[in-house]
Amino acid sequence: MQLVELTKKAYEKLIWTWKPGSEKESGDAIVKNLLLHWFPNKVTKGSLSWSYSFYLGTISFVLFMILVGTGLVLMFLYVPSVERAYSSVKDIEYVVSFGWLLRAMHRIAAHLMVAIVFLHMVRVFLTGAYKNGGAVGSNRPLNWIIGLSLLVVTLLLSFTGYLLPWDQLAYWAITVGTNIAGSAPLVGESIRNFLLGGTTIDQNALIRFYVLHVFFLPLIVVFLFSWHMWRVRKDGGLAVVDREALNQKPESIAPVKSKTYSLLGITNGTTVHVQNRMIDEERNSVPSTPHLVRRVWLVTLITFLVVVALSFVFRAPLEAPANPSVTPNPAKAPWYFLWLQEIVTITTIQIGSFTVNGAFIGGILLPGLLMVLAIWWPYRDRSGIESVGVWFAPERRRQNWVFIGICLLIILFTIIGTFLRGPYWKFYWPWETWPTMPVKF
Ligand code: HEM
Repeated sequence: MQLVELTKKAYEKLIWTWKPGSEKESGDAIVKNLLLHWFPNKVTKGSLSWSYSFYLGTISFVLFMILVGTGLVLMFLYVPSVERAYSSVKDIEYVVSFGWLLRAMHRIAAHLMVAIVFLHMVRVFLTGAYKNGGAVGSNRPLNWIIGLSLLVVTLLLSFTGYLLPWDQLAYWAITVGTNIAGSAPLVGESIRNFLLGGTTIDQNALIRFYVLHVFFLPLIVVFLFSWHMWRVRKDGGLAVVDREALNQKPESIAPVKSKTYSLLGITNGTTVHVQNRMIDEERNSVPSTPHLVRRVWLVTLITFLVVVALSFVFRAPLEAPANPSVTPNPAKAPWYFLWLQEIVTITTIQIGSFTVNGAFIGGILLPGLLMVLAIWWPYRDRSGIESVGVWFAPERRRQNWVFIGICLLIILFTIIGTFLRGPYWKFYWPWETWPTMPVKF
């Protein structure tokens, strides 16, 4: 008997979860704890649903925190100078205890963050969550635009980190990337010079990318993320809450004795019944602590474990030291820009003595147009309130197909650029071997 009691106690200790005794205790937990201040007092059951949000926004933030954690330690070991950057990364990889794990985790989290933020955007679009519902003061289109800014900053964070190891991969990926930026008419050259701090990739470029990478861009993410979350609260919670309110049948609510209804113009002999579509707190909402907090914690734990596990499988690469006189063939931009590099190639066409400027079309014009389209979209989407916060709403079917089409094209071009392009950007199937290229000095 005692053994059973002991086992029960041990089990309870092991799976300890805080169970508030009352709603007041749940609310107090949020008031008393700084970290829990993020959470509202209560959340609707729909917002907790795994299949609505897939917690992709939460995963994006956890990845960012992993990047900050591992990045801070890496800062003690990395030296941002052209002479020492490569050897300091080599030391981290081969000499420092668990340095390889630190580097691999930082790298994996960075790649995953780009992919997950993209997927989060896709989910927001397909659930029509950039649209306002019934809540007063709601401005979801603004939060969509804040999200787009977060996507751009995420890409820049990853891009600036790419150069830091100062190996061949880093050097040439940044060469391709900044050359694309430099192809804009009139201002292109100035933008490239501004990014690099000169005309070549050397110490000036390294220190610029370093300061942006470890200070300014993370600061911007923290600021934008705080604004993003504050807006979710101001918008009346996740868009699915509007859906829940809409699904709720209007109910007659008996008059509250302590209230005066004289303004409703009640005549003698009638009773007061107010038609209400508000979320019924008692039935549809649960306290954030422990319900939401527990889920966020679980997502945090799983994300962390996945990053660690992947780090054991995929070690961070380190090629030969950067050498401006040895050009790899093909020289590829970072993978998330390869769809653009692919479009640059397709649109660079020679017509007689005239060359169509593909770098401008693929590198500047197209991404610029896509960004303008994305910002404008919530304002031109005139679908009804029934399509807010619901996956694949019939009324938004055509919009969703256009969006899915664009995303699939981006993914297809990324796959082609990553796996199927060989020397001179020629197309090779995975089973075809690339010809040996003479090293170009
Ligand atoms: C670093 C990048 C980002 C982070 C950390 C982030 C974080 C979050 C979190 C935690 C939520 C709460 C719901 C959820 O977990 O899905 C959320 C909601 C939202 N996010 Fe993001 N987000 C990011 C980027 C984006 C992007 C790229 C967009 C769109 C372009 C976007 C638009 C929205 C919108 C509109 C909501 C409200 C969704 C709803 O009401 O259902 N976010 N975000």
